[in-house]
Amino acid sequence: MDGFQAAVAPSDAHDAVDRLQEARERTLELVAPFSDEELERVHSTLMSPLVWDLGHIAAFEDLWIVHRFGGESLLHDELADVYDAFETPRAGRGDLPFLRASEAREYLREVRQRALEVIDRRGVGDGVIAELIVRHEQQHTETMLQTIQLAQLAGLSEFTASAPAGLTGTGVGVAPGTSGARSFTGLELVEVPAGPCLIGAGGPESGFAYDNERPRHHTDVRGYLIGRTPITNATYLTFVEGGGYERREWWSDEGWSWKEDYDITRPQGWTADLRSEWRLSGLEPLHPDRPVVHISWFEADAFARAHAGRLPTEIEWEKAATWDQEQETSLRYPWGDDPLVPGLHANVDQRAGGPAPAGSMPDGASPYGVLGMLGDVWEWTSSNFTGYPGFEPFPYREYSEVFFGDEYRVLRGGAWATRSGVVTPTFRNWDYPQRRQIFSGLRIAKDL
Ligand SMILES: [Fe+2]
Repeated sequence: MDGFQAAVAPSDAHDAVDRLQEARERTLELVAPFSDEELERVHSTLMSPLVWDLGHIAAFEDLWIVHRFGGESLLHDELADVYDAFETPRAGRGDLPFLRASEAREYLREVRQRALEVIDRRGVGDGVIAELIVRHEQQHTETMLQTIQLAQLAGLSEFTASAPAGLTGTGVGVAPGTSGARSFTGLELVEVPAGPCLIGAGGPESGFAYDNERPRHHTDVRGYLIGRTPITNATYLTFVEGGGYERREWWSDEGWSWKEDYDITRPQGWTADLRSEWRLSGLEPLHPDRPVVHISWFEADAFARAHAGRLPTEIEWEKAATWDQEQETSLRYPWGDDPLVPGLHANVDQRAGGPAPAGSMPDGASPYGVLGMLGDVWEWTSSNFTGYPGFEPFPYREYSEVFFGDEYRVLRGGAWATRSGVVTPTFRNWDYPQRRQIFSGLRIAKDL
């Protein structure tokens, strides 16, 4: 935290203000179509009411920029517990005295005003806290999209209509069998030979990264095969229709009891006739070439076993995404150093309203020729969430360290609903193996 006081060029403060502003515009754009009642309603015990996210975004900004960085007292001390994600599990958030919609909007405005005054007065120090706040808000817009999708709230058709080139239209990208473009199933495999690789994010000089992505370290893995793309709807449908949810031998003990307890028979969001799926813009015919989404780790694991495979470890995932074997170096992005362009390299930044056909962005290929590592769906890995060798918590233990252990599985790569500024191939997401309201899919691996 020592870097806080460091002198900073004014342009960095301007940049931080621009980024804060841009993040806020997106937050407000996502909630604009909804009534106060829709924002305040508990749509599912799995998710907070949307208005809780708004208040929480404001509280977090007030805590970090205004209070801890700026040295001022909190605007609403009495709300600190209400908006503390650790103190208040999601299932109970509907009962909290959280701010109503108009109050939450006002809270967001007031805190932002205070934050801008602090930045005006003090700059942004080394910029890390401001970036943390930008990313926090961006990540909450993905959480809010989970809620919107789970509740099947209509209203964001204008939002998805303004998707960038390459991500427009309900077919998104290449319609199956129409353009001569190759379609993928997810079962095509690429060989990654044995050998060293470099894992994790570099030091502060290489840009922002979370504590759990550091330190960057060399490791060595055995050779393996990994899917060229994520598993598609068509391939997953074959699994469902082939008794995937009835064949005990494909499921772990824990996965089987979860599936039985909750009567799970298909991905969340698929209709019972297995012909349609919910996307942000509404119910659509199940597109065969799109990656399957909204499956739990248990389902991903069972699918992989049914195909004599397994889920990749997160090291295998990252090596396939970033390791350039010829140059013996890891790349910033699978395609190299060029900044991520949504619609060209990856389906990210939310406006596509769902995954795009697997393999439809060849410019996003990694040196091994693996496609779609970033965007579309978060990919479950076999790995538990743990610290890399030499891990040091930053800026506080509760960011990552308290989640380390065997409770959570790591997901990689970001989804269509992840903001482009957040997505990197070293970013580690973690969640419970039964979780599936998140935008989660899978890619399989096999031993050589
Ligand atoms: Fe948060």
